[in-house]
Amino acid sequence: MLQLAEGMSRLGTESAFEVLARAAALEAEGKSIINLGIGQPDFKTPEHIVEAAVKALRDGHHGYTPANGISPLREAVAADFEQRNGVAIDPQNVVIVPGGKVTMFFAILMFGGPGVDILYPDPGFPIYRSVIDYSGASAIPIPLREENQFSFSAQELLSLITPRTRLIILNSPANPTGGALAPGELDTLVEGLAAYPDIAILSDEIYSQMLYDGRRHVSLMRYESIRDRVILLDGWSKTYAMTGWRLGYAIWPKALAEPATRLAINCHSCVNAPTQFAGIAALTGPQDAVAAMTAAFDERRHVIVEELNALPGFSCVNPGGAFYTFPNITGLGMSARAVQDDLLNEAGVATVAGTSFGEYGEGYLRFSYANSVENIREAMARIRVWLQAR
Ligand SMILES: Cc1ncc(COP(=O)(O)O)c(C=O)c1O
Repeated sequence: MLQLAEGMSRLGTESAFEVLARAAALEAEGKSIINLGIGQPDFKTPEHIVEAAVKALRDGHHGYTPANGISPLREAVAADFEQRNGVAIDPQNVVIVPGGKVTMFFAILMFGGPGVDILYPDPGFPIYRSVIDYSGASAIPIPLREENQFSFSAQELLSLITPRTRLIILNSPANPTGGALAPGELDTLVEGLAAYPDIAILSDEIYSQMLYDGRRHVSLMRYESIRDRVILLDGWSKTYAMTGWRLGYAIWPKALAEPATRLAINCHSCVNAPTQFAGIAALTGPQDAVAAMTAAFDERRHVIVEELNALPGFSCVNPGGAFYTFPNITGLGMSARAVQDDLLNEAGVATVAGTSFGEYGEGYLRFSYANSVENIREAMARIRVWLQAR
């Protein structure tokens, strides 16, 4: 009998991938499924980015690269970050990785372990909790509540800190709620963190360019007093519709760039070379596709929020960013998981139960509106029929 290491029993998963597999199986049986479950843009990667990768292959970039990424890409990341956030970055602190997830895995492994507390958003991206558990650390949820538009309360967060706390994870704009952290709460948090100089902060800003209604992204890196302990996670997956390329980056505090690079060497050596050239083209080329995608998501956001609020048993706050909405479904009198399953099997609409994102997700369902307005309207019509037949 093969004996897996003990930590494997604690490693969780991301249910959105299970929903995707189940939806694909139903489609293979000939059923029509509208997928509002998966969190990826439904757009194609802009052509000039694809061309840069093709050219890199033709130019013979077939080999290993430095483990932390080729220097023109790290320089492009630093320049782009400074241009968007007004904060100068040393390219030496940038580590290029295969997707946003890798940075969270590395950061949690770097700090996690028995006897340590790590604070993470709940409901939140499920991999935070999964890897914290795997590391042996205690996972302490930071509750994100509907009445706060799914932002957090800085006072509540600060009250969760103990002498064992090593890492705090924040995510804005957020998956799965679409919530954006209120700048006032961030100010209070940063003031409070002055009393805890040994705590690192992982700021997952992968949806930073998808904000609506005139909101502006406030990166945690803007706060000078904590800059030497912020790990900034971002990447190309969402902004440039590049989820399948596997390309992300982190800006690490100076002292952590070397351990992060060592983890990369132990794990994946480097990101494939042509993808890194595509990453340069994305950051330095025209940005109109980014604006066009965000405008399309904004239009869909209005449609889905209005349609969801018109469904009996659903109520939905207007999400401030990303491409998710997280309606309250307690009015249906069913568990989130049962609604997810019935909508998929009976209505042909893929969504993800709020409980896939943490214990505070019961009573909610995540809809991704990375789908056409036409499909969103058709999905809502199907849900209405399903509700009437109950
Ligand atoms: C909040 C958040 N962080 C990170 C990621 C991971 O992105 P990537 O596909 O680049 O690994 C996702 C993907 O859904 C996400 O929602």
